[in-house]
Amino acid sequence: MSNPGARVTVALLGGGTVGSQVARLLRETADDLSARVGASLELCGVAVRDTGRERADIPADLITGDAEALARSGADVVVELVGGIEPARTLVLAAMESGSSVVTANKALLAADGAALHAAAEKYGVDLYYEASVAGAIPLLRPLRESLAGDKVRRVLGIVNGTTNFILTRMDEQGTDYAVALAEAQALGYAEADPTADVGGHDAAAKAAILAGLAFHTRVTIDDVHVEGVESVTAVDVAAAREMGFVIKLLAVAELTADERGVVVRVHPTMVPRTHPLASVRDAFNAVFVDAEAAGDVMFYGRGAGGAPTASAVLGDVVAVARNRRSGSRGPGESTYADLQVRPVAEAITRYYVNLHVTDKPGVLAAVATLFAENGVSIQNVRQEGLGDQASLVVRTHLAPDAALARTIEALHGSDVVRDVLGVMRVEGEAGR
Ligand code: NAP
Ligand code: HSE
Repeated sequence: MSNPGARVTVALLGGGTVGSQVARLLRETADDLSARVGASLELCGVAVRDTGRERADIPADLITGDAEALARSGADVVVELVGGIEPARTLVLAAMESGSSVVTANKALLAADGAALHAAAEKYGVDLYYEASVAGAIPLLRPLRESLAGDKVRRVLGIVNGTTNFILTRMDEQGTDYAVALAEAQALGYAEADPTADVGGHDAAAKAAILAGLAFHTRVTIDDVHVEGVESVTAVDVAAAREMGFVIKLLAVAELTADERGVVVRVHPTMVPRTHPLASVRDAFNAVFVDAEAAGDVMFYGRGAGGAPTASAVLGDVVAVARNRRSGSRGPGESTYADLQVRPVAEAITRYYVNLHVTDKPGVLAAVATLFAENGVSIQNVRQEGLGDQASLVVRTHLAPDAALARTIEALHGSDVVRDVLGVMRVEGEAGR
C-alpha cells in the first residue's frame, strides 16, 4: 500500500542506451512501481555529457552536465549508467559517501574494483545492486546470491555477450562478414561504447569474474580471467564447425578445479554441438547454465543486451533497493568467505578441435597421433580431408588438461609432417560435459 506523500528519489547518472530506457520506464510505469515500493519513485536528475542534445525519453528540466553534484545530491538511489572505470568509480563512491544506495550495470567497474565498491557500501551502510551488469534482462545474479545460496555450485557456463553472439549468429546463418555484423550490433545498441571490449572478450570476462565471485564466494577480478576474443574467428572456422555439426559460441566458463580448492575462469570461442541448448541461443540473446550439486543444471535464458531489456533489470534493482530504504534494511553484501585460489587456464579440463594441413605421405597419421599421445592427450576421432597438397586432418580430442593440449599444439607446430595448424578451438557441451 502506497503511503501518500512518501517518496524515494532516484538520480540517474547516464542517459544513453540504457539510461534513457530507465527514465522512460520510470515514467510510464510510475503507478505500478509506487504500489510495489509503497512510495513514489521520483526521478530527480539525469546526468549526461552532452546537455544540448534533445532526448525524447528524458524531461529536459531534469538533465544536468554536473554528474558529480547529482551523485552527491543525497538521492535515495543513484543509478550509475555511465559505464567504464572513470568517472564512474568516483561517482559511485561519492554517491555512497553521501548516503545513497547504488544500482549499476557497470560490469567493467565491478570486475576491476568490486572489492572497493562493496567495502564502501559496507562502510556507509548502503546497498550496492548490479543485476543488469551480467546478461542484460536475465535474472541471474539474484538467483545465484539468494535462490542457490543453499547449494554448492560446481560450474557456470554460458553465453554472456550479446554483441559477439549476434556477430557469430550472423556469420553462421547468413555468411555475413564479421565487420558488417559488428556494425549492425552497434547500431542496435548492443555493443559497448568501445566495441573492442565486446569482440576482444573483455566484456564477457568482466561478467565471468562477477559470476565466479558470486558462485564460488571468492573474490575474482577481470585480471584472473583467461580471455580470447572472437576477432580471430574466420569464415573458414565457422564453415568447419558447421560441417562437423557444431556452432561457434563465445563461452564464459567458471568452474571448480578437481581438488575443489581452486577455480578456473575463462572466456574463449568454443565449438558447441548443434544439438546442445546453447547452440540455439541466437542473436543478442544470452544463456547461462549453473551446475549445482543438489539442483543439477539450471538454465537461465533471455535478452542479454539492449536498452529496454537492461533497463528492466536496472528497475528490478531500483525497486529492491527502494524497498530496503523504506524498511530500513539492506540487501546481502559481498560473500568471499570461501577464498578459493584462482588458478590458470592450464588447469582447466577441456577438449580440443584441431585442424591440420599435413603432408600427404605414408605415416603422417601415425606421426600426428604419436605427438598427441606423447603429450598425454587421447584422440576421440580423426577425419582426413583432401589429397596431395590439400590434405588436412581434423582431430577431436577427449578431455585433457588444457596445459597438455597447449603442449600438443606447440609440438604440432614444430612437426615436419604438419605444414600448418589451420584451426584450434576448445569444445564444450559434448556428452559427459
Ligand atoms: P551509453 O549509451 O554510451 O550511455 C552512457 C551515458 O553516460 C550517456 O548518456 C553519456 O552522455 C553519459 N556519460 C558518459 N560520460 C559521462 C560523464 N563524464 N558525465 C556525465 N555523463 C556521462 O552506454 P549504455 O549502453 O547505456 O551503457 C551504460 C552502462 O550499462 C555500461 O556500464 C554498460 O556496460 C552497461 N550495460 C549496457 C548494456 C547495453 O545493452 N547497452 C547492457 C548491459 C549493461 P551522452 O549521452 O551525452 O553521451
Ligand atoms: N555490450 C554488452 C553485450 C552489453 O553485447 O552483451 C550487455 O552487457
